[in-house]
Amino acid sequence: MRHVMVMNAKGGCGKSTLATNIASYFAKEGHTVALADYDPQRSSLDWLAVRPEDLPKITGVAAYEDGLRSAPRDTEVLVIDAPARTHGAEMNELVRRAETIIVPVLPSPIDLKASSHFIAELLELGKVQREQARVAVVANRVRENTLMFDELDQYLDKLKVPYLTALRQSTNYLRAYQRGMGVFELPEYLARPDWEQWTPVTKWLGSKKSQP
Ligand SMILES: Nc1ncnc2c1ncn2[C@@H]1O[C@H](COP(=O)(O)OP(=O)(O)O)[C@@H](O)[C@H]1O
Ligand SMILES: [Mg+2]
Repeated sequence: MRHVMVMNAKGGCGKSTLATNIASYFAKEGHTVALADYDPQRSSLDWLAVRPEDLPKITGVAAYEDGLRSAPRDTEVLVIDAPARTHGAEMNELVRRAETIIVPVLPSPIDLKASSHFIAELLELGKVQREQARVAVVANRVRENTLMFDELDQYLDKLKVPYLTALRQSTNYLRAYQRGMGVFELPEYLARPDWEQWTPVTKWLGSKKSQP
């Protein structure tokens, strides 16, 4: 079973948005997918609750209650939505559960500061140092041609981990969330720019670079 975790101590940076989209991407590709929600806010599980019956099935795991125990054994890809405010021992404990970690970061001064502390701590963990977990970052909710995005872009470029892509701010993410879908499942005329921005993420996830 593969474990892909979306993580950042900062709330509101897009963890649940990325987790639900990654889960629906793998499901659409024909994999057996489960989505584990460690956040008691249940954003990923609420999304799953409204997922249409006719779309590829994703099994929900209420990890904030009882960990990953209830993930079905035949799961091929377990996508994990991590809670905010992870730090220290709790963060170490969470990282033990994944080999692939994606960190979304928003273009705002507060987020950039908070995320840089988080990323520094993440990169210090033994598991990450030993490359038993692979980490990548994604800029999220960007508006191109803004100074703040340029600053974030330059910061992420300099990190020692791959900076995969910048996802635009788009109502498509709100629309998809509301309907239990991923942007990959929205019509092409609406979501084509988002699909293109996701390509480096899905490529990385499909490559050996994202696995130890
Ligand atoms: N790329 C995006 N474009 C537009 N809205 C977004 C985007 N990513 C996230 N959001 C919105 O931002 C808010 C926070 O995102 P969420 O995924 O819940 O973050 P987290 O799980 O890290 O707290 C939500 O309202 C979500 O719909
Ligand atoms: Mg969330």
